[in-house]
Amino acid sequence: MSDNSVGKRKRVLSGVQPSGNLTVGNYVGALRQWAREQYNFESFFCVVDLHAITVPYDPLALREKTREVAALYLACGIDPEVSTVFVQSHVSAHAELTWLLNGITPLGWLNRMTQFKDKSAKQQVDSVSMGLLDYPVLMAADILLYQADAVPVGEDQKQHLELTRDIAQRFNHLFGDTFTIPDPMIPPTGARIMGLDNPTAKMSKSETGSEYHAVYLLDPPNRARKKVMRAVTDSGREIRFSRDPERAGVNNLLELYEALTAQSREDIEQQFDGKGYGDLKKAVAEAVVDMLGPIQQRYEDLTRDSSYIDNLLARGAERANEVASATLKTVRERMGFLEPLR
Ligand code: TYM
Repeated sequence: MSDNSVGKRKRVLSGVQPSGNLTVGNYVGALRQWAREQYNFESFFCVVDLHAITVPYDPLALREKTREVAALYLACGIDPEVSTVFVQSHVSAHAELTWLLNGITPLGWLNRMTQFKDKSAKQQVDSVSMGLLDYPVLMAADILLYQADAVPVGEDQKQHLELTRDIAQRFNHLFGDTFTIPDPMIPPTGARIMGLDNPTAKMSKSETGSEYHAVYLLDPPNRARKKVMRAVTDSGREIRFSRDPERAGVNNLLELYEALTAQSREDIEQQFDGKGYGDLKKAVAEAVVDMLGPIQQRYEDLTRDSSYIDNLLARGAERANEVASATLKTVRERMGFLEPLR
């Protein structure tokens, strides 16, 4: 019963938090893969607003960003006639399954999560929310409700995917085979784009320390160019892919270029043989601007009529709810809850 692959397309589920401006990292690490894979899988893409309240946030911005992220999914190529696009909090099964899974998730598993350690270290110990610790269980609920076979994400979500698999396996062991065990789907290039201002830290939409940290998907071309041209490099000259932490800035620009142009590493190194960092930055900036152009054009078209996205999200929530509530019903039965009389 946990196998939805028999005679059917396999499923994917993924999501982005509406917690800031989407970056080129989100695009090459996640959204671009979703757009490609939606024709091979039955796809569910949600805007994970419940995740976005685990750190201090502004309610007005949350509502605005939730719509913006949904519109960007479409602008990046998600076809709402092919994939189900919805908002996590519109499907109450996500919150409910989280609570049920909390009952079988050892605290030790959550304490080990590196994202929790990183994010909680940035706050006063006493103000870290319970939600931040529980965040990966909510993510597991997102995935397991849809019996997803694969989860297209960037490298940073790998540990959360492993936890999801552990929770699913534990549940299946305790209560009988219920959940599909999902596989991470991590792109071969662009799975971990680093900050332009600090190439030792992941590029993040919630990093607001420097205006040169990330290129946002809605940055005007000149701002995007300027950010790339200001990217931190080193005092060397050689333009080669490298794991040397001293050369992380140049390597990051090369990886971004590789992800955007789909050229081989040898060809890229040859292209820049004998050239300077300025040439590399110019080429990356143009590749970024070429990628942003059509996305921004579609975004403008899609958001001209503000009810379009809201209607589409209502339709998406309906479809998502059908699938999620069926799984939740099985889970409740397996866990021994008394069904109310109807
Ligand atoms: P979030 O919102 O931080 O990021 C969304 C997606 O973008 C990828 N990503 C990156 N890829 C490459 N380079 C980067 N610098 C970069 N930054 C982000 C992320 O890996 C992610 O795929 N916990 C998730 C959201 C989530 C989720 C889910 C994902 C909630 N429930 C269920 C998949 C399935 C997160 O915070 O992603």
